[in-house]
Amino acid sequence: MSLITVDELTKVYKVRSRKKTPIEKGIFNSIKRFTKLRQYQNISAVNNISFTIDTGETVGFLGPNGAGKSTLVKMLAGILVPTSGSLKVNGVTPHRDRMNYAMNIGVVFGQRTTLWWDLPLSHSFDLLRVIYEITPQDYETTLRWLIELLELEPILDRPVRQLSLGQRMRAELAAALLHRPQVLFLDEPTIGLDIAVKQRIRTSLRELNREWGVTILLTTHDLRDIEEICQRLIVIDKGQLMYNGSLNHFREQFCGNRVIRVALTDRHIANRLVQDPPPEVTYTEQEGPWVTLYFDQAKTKAADVASWIMNKYIVMDLVVEEPSIEKTVTELYRSEMK
Ligand SMILES: Nc1ncnc2c1ncn2[C@@H]1O[C@H](COP(=O)(O)OP(=O)(O)O)[C@@H](O)[C@H]1O
Ligand SMILES: [Mg+2]
Repeated sequence: MSLITVDELTKVYKVRSRKKTPIEKGIFNSIKRFTKLRQYQNISAVNNISFTIDTGETVGFLGPNGAGKSTLVKMLAGILVPTSGSLKVNGVTPHRDRMNYAMNIGVVFGQRTTLWWDLPLSHSFDLLRVIYEITPQDYETTLRWLIELLELEPILDRPVRQLSLGQRMRAELAAALLHRPQVLFLDEPTIGLDIAVKQRIRTSLRELNREWGVTILLTTHDLRDIEEICQRLIVIDKGQLMYNGSLNHFREQFCGNRVIRVALTDRHIANRLVQDPPPEVTYTEQEGPWVTLYFDQAKTKAADVASWIMNKYIVMDLVVEEPSIEKTVTELYRSEMK
């Protein structure tokens, strides 16, 4: 049986309606004064999403800003109540049994903190030990392990408010794991961090999954997070599920396109190539004298496309690029929503 089952999950936010024009406002205000009427607009943040996740999986939710990632993870963590659909984690409906549920999960959401701002970091850990009723032996072993994994030793005595973003993120991660949860939810765990800290976080999460078997679900808009941490990718956009499967399968299915970039003598000549591209080229882009040509590598070879161009034009520069998964994701958003 799956650890997490999400079935036709939907979240609609009700928000106050858009700003009104002065005339509308005048009429509206006079009506409101008499009737206390208010207008609301529905925002469908998560729209009919279904998937399952097994114990020990690492799953990344990828999508642009506003896609609905945070809303989805907040429902999974029991912080938000779904509008409709069902959601079960280990047989429990998260928002119905929040107290018990919290004992079995770890949550790291950038905006919320589980740490006490003015206390030294180690005191926060001590308090969490009491809250989660962790036995002294378990506490000691787990904490020692986490301090080493996340390199926390030098900051243990520092008040949390003095920590840098990267230090705080590592501390938050430790705090979320002290009670050895089965499942860890992370919302944009690497956002705003420098490369070295990002790397530390990614390595730590991989190791946690391997050593403890923690099931990890994270949101990100950085594909590198997925590449380095997750076995599975779930792409969402505008509240809808666009892809659910392995990263490799995603590459095979959607990254069949290869890319050649050529620089011609000037932008007018480049435009001629765009107007009359080589056969089997499916898509072109132009930026000044540079033309980017996409072609299906199952149908034609880069060498054939290149020699076709070189027979007709003076080529100043030519680059053959690997299919970029980032670009593919962006194209997927674009094409599926048309
Ligand atoms: N508390 C809220 N009230 C109203 N609308 C919200 C709220 N939180 C998010 N939204 C809207 O829901 C959509 C999805 O947001 P969110 O889940 O934060 O996306 P993401 O995390 O992928 O950036 C967006 O259109 C956002 O403006
Ligand atoms: Mg978000």
